[in-house]
Amino acid sequence: MSKRETLKRLLRYLLADKTAFAIAALFLLCAVVADVSGPWLIRLFLDDYLAKGYYPSGVLWSLALGYIGVTFLSGVLHYAYGIRFSRIAIGIVQTIRKKVYASIINQPLSAFDYVPAGKLVSRVTNDTESLKELYVQVVASFLQATTLILAMLTAMYLLSPRLTLVVAILLPTVVLVMFLYQRRSAGVFRESRDLLTDINSVMSESIQGMSLIQLMGQQQRFSERFAALTDQHLNAEVRIVKINGIYLRPLIDLLSGVALVTLAAIFGWHGSEVIGVGVLYAFISYLGRVTEPLIELMQRLSLLQQAIMAGERLFELMDAPPHPYGDDERPLACGDIEVSSLSFSYDGKTPVLSDVNVSVKEGGFLALVGHTGSGKSTLASLMMGFYPVQSGSLKLGGRDIATLSQHALRSGIALVQQDPHVLSDSFRANVSLDRDVSDEAIWQALEQVDLADYVRHLPSGLDTAIGTGIFRFLPGRSSCWRWRVCWSTSRAS
Ligand SMILES: Nc1ncnc2c1ncn2[C@@H]1O[C@H](COP(=O)(O)OP(=O)(O)OP(=O)(O)O)[C@@H](O)[C@H]1O
Ligand SMILES: [Mg+2]
Repeated sequence: MSKRETLKRLLRYLLADKTAFAIAALFLLCAVVADVSGPWLIRLFLDDYLAKGYYPSGVLWSLALGYIGVTFLSGVLHYAYGIRFSRIAIGIVQTIRKKVYASIINQPLSAFDYVPAGKLVSRVTNDTESLKELYVQVVASFLQATTLILAMLTAMYLLSPRLTLVVAILLPTVVLVMFLYQRRSAGVFRESRDLLTDINSVMSESIQGMSLIQLMGQQQRFSERFAALTDQHLNAEVRIVKINGIYLRPLIDLLSGVALVTLAAIFGWHGSEVIGVGVLYAFISYLGRVTEPLIELMQRLSLLQQAIMAGERLFELMDAPPHPYGDDERPLACGDIEVSSLSFSYDGKTPVLSDVNVSVKEGGFLALVGHTGSGKSTLASLMMGFYPVQSGSLKLGGRDIATLSQHALRSGIALVQQDPHVLSDSFRANVSLDRDVSDEAIWQALEQVDLADYVRHLPSGLDTAIGTGIFRFLPGRSSCWRWRVCWSTSRAS
């Protein structure tokens, strides 16, 4: 997907709730009209009353109250716009985050073979956060700045078409400055972002491999690696500050200064006959108000690049095909396993299994003995359908594993892993896995693994929260490292 398409797809989310977007846009439009009205009222006062020495109290009071009124209204409306827009934006980010997670959790295991966990975590957290910045900062301030500029140009044109020309000529220069800023800053911004991802990866890797790091006394080396990354990140950030320092305020201020001087020169040349003092005031005031949103917009344009890259990565995850299952819903009726001429490789290059033939009849028992890395777990993974069969055939109950539906496969065959994974949740949740299971059945399961007595003596019983490491401390933990494939054929049901 090209950058343009990614951006289009990201922006399309804004229109998912058209009413909410229309209301936010309406608030913005009213706020900008209020913004433009203030200087317009002052101009009215200067040119039509002050310059002529004519002070009708009724009109002046209305002008004063009107000015206070629009200033107040502008604040309220900008606030309302900000709130509405942020709500839309945060809603979009939640939608995307949920979709990405749902897609990740349904992907084939092969998708995780070569992607570090830290990278995925960073995608779901950092990249979606980048998207939030795109909507809340870039799009919101882009809409704000462009509406304001258009409204001000219109107001200026109505006041003095000739003077508007002077200001309008400067607009392309502003665009040029923006373009140059983009070009200079994009690379550094990307570098800073990538470094942040690396910092996250090292952090999560270190936590996952903490026992190994401490066992091997690698704390110093890991600390140094981490420090090097944070130093590089600091460098990138300093470069960003420098580029911002040159391009953002000084250049925009210079441009608006040039416009001001030109306006003042024209005024000095022609005198107040051609251009009223009020019109000059309105122009200067408009110019002053437009520089701030422009600087903000420029500063945030860099977020656009990041957001597009984040969007590309997120859409890639969202669009990744889920684990392929067959559509044969019939439950497995027989426990025979038939593996013939099975070959498999994780990366498509290094063979892990070559021409494996196994036949186990229902109720049979098979022990696979082999040195580490010989492919025992791989064979179990293939029998579980974690990876598609690449060559040869694998039949469960006489049926090709690829034809079985997710339900038929998962309710027909189970795996007892050599390393148990404990969810950081209660005993109940760990046994039931959120399925509708009675307490009685949970106790029965705990009884079978010799944990029932232990749990019964805990103050919160089944509701005791267990963290991911607790199995190390549980009593009677089996030190048996065999794996077993257990059948629970649905014949009985
Ligand atoms: N997810 C994976 N991605 C890529 N390569 C893998 C993956 N899992 C295992 N391998 C590689 O495949 C080969 C077989 O590994 P496997 O885990 O099946 O061996 P094993 O016989 O179960 O070993 P052990 O006795 O240590 O459990 C090894 O070379 C291993 O490095
Ligand atoms: Mg193994």
